[in-house]
Amino acid sequence: MATWSAPGKVFLFGEHAVVFGKPGIAMAIKPRVYVTVRKARNPARVNSPYIESCFEEMGVTGSVYIHSQLPSSSGLGSSAAVTVATLFAINDEFNLKYDRNQLASMAYKIEKKVQHGRASPTDTYVSTFGGLVLIKDNKRRRMPPENFNIVIGNTLVSHKTTELVAMVSEFRKNNPLVVDPILDAIEAVTTRSMHNFHNLKVLGRYMDVNHALLEALGVGHPMLSRLVSASRAAGAYGAKMTGAGGGGCMIALCPKRSKSKVAGAIEAADGRAIITTIDTEGARKE
Ligand code: PMV
Repeated sequence: MATWSAPGKVFLFGEHAVVFGKPGIAMAIKPRVYVTVRKARNPARVNSPYIESCFEEMGVTGSVYIHSQLPSSSGLGSSAAVTVATLFAINDEFNLKYDRNQLASMAYKIEKKVQHGRASPTDTYVSTFGGLVLIKDNKRRRMPPENFNIVIGNTLVSHKTTELVAMVSEFRKNNPLVVDPILDAIEAVTTRSMHNFHNLKVLGRYMDVNHALLEALGVGHPMLSRLVSASRAAGAYGAKMTGAGGGGCMIALCPKRSKSKVAGAIEAADGRAIITTIDTEGARKE
């Protein structure tokens, strides 16, 4: 029997713009998915195309038990975390000897297959390697970790990343003169943020700007605005939607002392709050 876990992720800066080759910053977060795999001739039926594909890809059969701390379909990368943890657990239980890089690309391949061609390699990368990740020129690499105090607000409004990405792409195709400067501004905010990781006030301000730019791209939602405003009023340095938008989650960068107050404000505004910070470990044996 082998149990492995893998973390979820948030985008700190640059979502949507990364689709057009701009830089982005993502971070692994503490809520994790735990997967236990055991060799079995007759596998128990699982209700997840991700897990089925993991066994298929590895060419083995087994039983599986999942425990997730991550809400699904909210843009926190839960499908990537399930896929990554399952692949690592199968690899261990069956002694298949794939390395971390091979398992990361396998996880991306599976996400792509299950999501019919459109998946973000960022989710599987962050979940596999953990920490703070810079996406640049369509490549990903780890940066030195930072201990940001983050409160996540889940709007509980479901969204479809594929549809939002397609919508932005259509908007850009028809209005390049309007949309390209917005993407350039997101790039500038992302790049400047890297020079201000230790200046949380400035970083918070950049999050506010990034949020406004994402709204200008058309991926806002009234519940996101509500949770973002509530967080700022409760003392956050700044707040923005995270991921595809149109619902899903927002993040607030907080002074340590106001984490609970911000979380309370999110709950009072009908969101679900998760107080979290960076998870520097990626996939991990339990
Ligand atoms: O919904 P999420 O958190 O998987 O966010 C997708 C982020 C986008 O930049 C919109 C798409 C992508 O592939 O990076």
